[in-house]
Amino acid sequence: MIRAGYFQFDPVFGDKKHNLARVAEAVEKFHDELDILVLPELFTTGYHFSSKQQVEEWAEFPEGETYQTLKKTASERNCYLFGGFIEKSEKGCYNSSMLVFPNGEYRIYRKAHLFFEETLYFIKSDSLLEPIEITIRGKKIRVGLMICFDWFFPETARTLALKGAQILLHTANLVLPYCPAATITRALENKVFIILCNRIGKETAKGKELSFIGLSRIVSPKGEILSESGKDNEEIKTAFFDPFDADNKSINIYNNLFEDRRTDLYRI
Ligand code: ACM
Repeated sequence: MIRAGYFQFDPVFGDKKHNLARVAEAVEKFHDELDILVLPELFTTGYHFSSKQQVEEWAEFPEGETYQTLKKTASERNCYLFGGFIEKSEKGCYNSSMLVFPNGEYRIYRKAHLFFEETLYFIKSDSLLEPIEITIRGKKIRVGLMICFDWFFPETARTLALKGAQILLHTANLVLPYCPAATITRALENKVFIILCNRIGKETAKGKELSFIGLSRIVSPKGEILSESGKDNEEIKTAFFDPFDADNKSINIYNNLFEDRRTDLYRI
C-alpha cells in the first residue's frame, strides 16, 4: 500500500513565494506517511496571463526557485511532489510540470496538448509520453504524468497505460466542467489509478474572468472514487492503495483490456 493524494488550493497570481510556502505548510503535518502529492498546473504563478512578456518574466529554468523549494520539501517529508510551472528554455517557454523525488532527482514533463490561449504563450512540447519509475519503500512503481487538457485526448492516458504506468498523476487548472466525471472512464478504460489535482478560485486578465472548478479526486482502476473534493474548498486529500492492482488488466475470465485490443481493425 502507498499513500498518495493532492493539494487542491487557490494559488495567488504571480506570488511564487507565497504559493510555494502554501505547499510546504500543507505537508508539514505528514512525517514519512505521505508518498506522493500532486499539485495544480502552473501552481507557482497562476494561469490567466495577460501577455507573453508576463509569462517570460515568471519562467524558470528547471533548477530554479520552484525546484529548489520543492526539493527541500520533498526531502524533509520523504515524498514525491508533482506540479506545474513555467519552464524557460533557449527556444521559448513551456507549460511544464516537474516530479521531484525525495532524493532531489527530478523529471520534467511538458504539456502535450495546449489549451486555448496557452497556444499564444507556450511552445509545443517535445516530451515523449513515457512512464517514470519511482521507488516507494523499496518497491518500483511506474507513474505517468499528464497536464490538464491532455485528458481530452484519450491517447495520452492510453499511451502511458500501454507502456506500463500504474498511476496517472494529473496536474490541472480545469475550467471546462467535463474532466472530473471523465476520470472514471479514463481509469476504467486503462485500468489505472488517477490522481487529478485541480485548483479553485478565479483569475481575471484582459477583461475576462476564468473560474477553476476544483473537484479534484483519486480514482481506482475499477472506477471507484477513493477521495474527492468540492468545487471551492482548499484541502489536502489522500488515499491508501496498492499500485500493483493496476497491473491486472483482466476484465473477466474471457476478456483482457490490452490483449483484446483489435489493432488489426483500428489501422490508424
Ligand atoms: C487547461 O488545459 N488548463 C484547461
